[in-house]
Amino acid sequence: MLSSDQYLDIIENAIENIDYPAHPSGLYQPIKYALETGGKRIRPMLTLAACDALGVDVNVAVDQALAIEMFHNFTLLHDDVMDKAEVRRGRPTVHQRWNEQTAILSGDAMLTMSQMMASRCAVEKLPSVLALFNKTAMEVYEGQQYDMDFEHRKSVSAENYMEMIRLKTSVLIGCAVRMGALMAGADENTQQAFYDYGEKLGLAFQLRDDYLDTFGDPTIFGKAIGGDIVNDKKTWLLITAMSEDRSGTIEKWLGNQSDKSGKIEAVTGVYRFLKLDERCSELVNRYCDEAVAQLNRINLSVEAREFFVELAMKSRARSN
Ligand code: IPE
Ligand code: IPE
Ligand code: MG
Ligand code: MG
Ligand code: MG
Repeated sequence: MLSSDQYLDIIENAIENIDYPAHPSGLYQPIKYALETGGKRIRPMLTLAACDALGVDVNVAVDQALAIEMFHNFTLLHDDVMDKAEVRRGRPTVHQRWNEQTAILSGDAMLTMSQMMASRCAVEKLPSVLALFNKTAMEVYEGQQYDMDFEHRKSVSAENYMEMIRLKTSVLIGCAVRMGALMAGADENTQQAFYDYGEKLGLAFQLRDDYLDTFGDPTIFGKAIGGDIVNDKKTWLLITAMSEDRSGTIEKWLGNQSDKSGKIEAVTGVYRFLKLDERCSELVNRYCDEAVAQLNRINLSVEAREFFVELAMKSRARSN
């Protein structure tokens, strides 16, 4: 097994080597900007690690890892428009730096480029690679639609929320791990076990993202704090607060978009009073443990197992 730093080097190198046409720069510059401004690269790292864990040269899966990172970044361009988010990775979002038209069109180009990258594989693997990639993409869009629908809905259950985050976030992480196994030529059971690990990890990952959106340090998180509260995002935090708050504070602020900082402060106060920060972290830990349990279904070396366990441990405590 290579180290995480070695996977990162391979990924950053592949990103640097993407060959963009020079014109029109208004289309390609924002793509470079989005891809070259950091990001944890957790998805492509998982693709390479799964391939490596099965004893196959990671170079076999680099294009697919890159495709998934490109697709992920495409979703972020559009997501930031949808969520009216102004900062990502400590820098202005693409629609802020340029405009919404740019975020839409450069995002579209990224989606197509990701398809082209995913398709760079042996012809006998192409149908399964594209089937996995496209199924995942459709699910992400469904998840994003639920996320938007839920902003305006009052009754969203914890089950509705879990299914929404499974679709918008987890399936792509599951796809990333499974893709590495697929490229390594693994059997169906092994591919599915890797997928299930990624899916559980993805649930923990989004729960932690929602936690950080309220309780994170903006200078480390790289995104503005409180956006979910302002937008009435039906996160686990808000859903739980809606059912447990007896002070009327949540009810009062829902739908209010005028005093953003007042809303963030008041709602965060309720979250803290209900100890939702600690309870959310416990939930994150539970899904990380479930992810790790999936690894028992795969015949892994001690070293490979350690990699995936450690990644889950790092994700549960992440600050960015
Ligand atoms: C952000 O994903 C969107 C979510 C699914 C929470 P990441 O937290 O992986 O974002 P980067 O790529 O590391 O910036
Ligand atoms: C993002 O969820 C999931 C996507 C499919 C992009 P969020 O809207 O919470 O992601 P961030 O916080 O903006 O990165
Ligand atoms: Mg969103
Ligand atoms: Mg967002
Ligand atoms: Mg978020």
